[in-house]
Amino acid sequence: MKWKRIGNVLILDSKFHYESYEDLQVLSKKHNVKTIMKIDYIQGTKREPVYNILYGNETETIHKENSCLFKLDLSKVMWSKGNNNERLRIAKLVEDNEVVLDMFAGIGYFSIPIGVHSNAKHIYSIEINPNSYFYLCENIKLNKLDNITPILGDCMVHAPKYKADRIIMGYVKTTHHYLNVAINSLNEGGILHYHETVPEKLMNTRPLERIISQAGNREVELLKLNKIKKYAPGVEHVVLDVKVN
Ligand SMILES: C[S@@+](CC[C@H](N)C(=O)[O-])C[C@H]1O[C@@H](n2cnc3c(N)ncnc32)[C@H](O)[C@@H]1O
Repeated sequence: MKWKRIGNVLILDSKFHYESYEDLQVLSKKHNVKTIMKIDYIQGTKREPVYNILYGNETETIHKENSCLFKLDLSKVMWSKGNNNERLRIAKLVEDNEVVLDMFAGIGYFSIPIGVHSNAKHIYSIEINPNSYFYLCENIKLNKLDNITPILGDCMVHAPKYKADRIIMGYVKTTHHYLNVAINSLNEGGILHYHETVPEKLMNTRPLERIISQAGNREVELLKLNKIKKYAPGVEHVVLDVKVN
């Protein structure tokens, strides 16, 4: 794909070729956007974009996906278009009255769809990046949700304060370092959604082994291994749904 549209902003692929400012003007009219950007990469623990603004100057926008509204500033926080099916898939798995813990909540990538599409009893959403936390709070209001508690801080510190029926670990850097904390917060028979970027040939072994190694004497049952997207050549972004008894 050469471009993606997020709200009123067009994000061009690094390989997208244009000759002049006039080309960008034409593109903005064609796609009906105010701003055109290139995002080189997403850096660090807080997943912040390194970007160039090519046209316009408004980087804050409201993106609609799966009947959810996401307000975000694309110069401050990330948006992964490739994860859109996963965001809805998780929301649809949540059963009535579940307590959900979203350990890496961002702007509410998973918490908002869960709030909109399920009858969860409560959702605790932890986020370390103050910019993402700001938009998480905005998005809770925008979607008129009253069962999400946003928490600013490190999930290593805050997750142990909660017990949940379902825990989402939607982070792909060193997610396995947080497994022990997550499993300790998971109720008996609870479900963990564990994300990892993993070389293709280790996909069916490493992530599950990592979960089992942190589960102590609790029994781990693999429910599903879901490929989300290709992360890099030979590397997959996968999510494992596991039940921990
Ligand atoms: C950007 S999200 C992942 C994207 C998401 N999977 C999606 O669907 O697009 C990951 C979030 O985890 C946050 N994060 C990283 N380390 C954290 C920690 N220790 N505690 C809480 N949040 C953390 C980052 O700031 C980031 O906002």
